[in-house]
Amino acid sequence: MAYIREIVKEGDPILRAKAVTVRRFDERLGLLLDDMAETMVYAEGCGLAAPQIGISKRIIICLYDDVLYEFINPEIIEHSKERINDSEGCLSVPDVRGIVPRYKKIKVKAQDRYGNEFEEEYEGFLARIIQHETDHLSGRLFIDIMTKKVD
Ligand code: NI
Repeated sequence: MAYIREIVKEGDPILRAKAVTVRRFDERLGLLLDDMAETMVYAEGCGLAAPQIGISKRIIICLYDDVLYEFINPEIIEHSKERINDSEGCLSVPDVRGIVPRYKKIKVKAQDRYGNEFEEEYEGFLARIIQHETDHLSGRLFIDIMTKKVD
């Protein structure tokens, strides 16, 4: 059973904090990930970072093409030179959309919910979501780096 959590909005200092590395891969982590997925789907988002539900830990999830991706302690270890401009929003910053440049291709090192390490390459919109969510873990919001507001 997963629970819908409340999404923290811009102005809350937790969104500006540096999230803490996850070291314990236990049942509680699994429950948290399930709650995050439930919350993201309910809010009709395509990504969510733990600080957005008030938990300052390095955990993100992404939903792309009906596939759910979970990243614990994600790090972008390589990226393309090329960046793409596209519009983004954020569940913590309602009613704002803006153009944000993001790397077209990235290589991510992370752990799954059981603590297994993996490395994988992503591109296009999924790569964009991962970059947006990873930014949340260092207290960065898309409104800090957007080049233009869109309606
Ligand atoms: Ni966001």
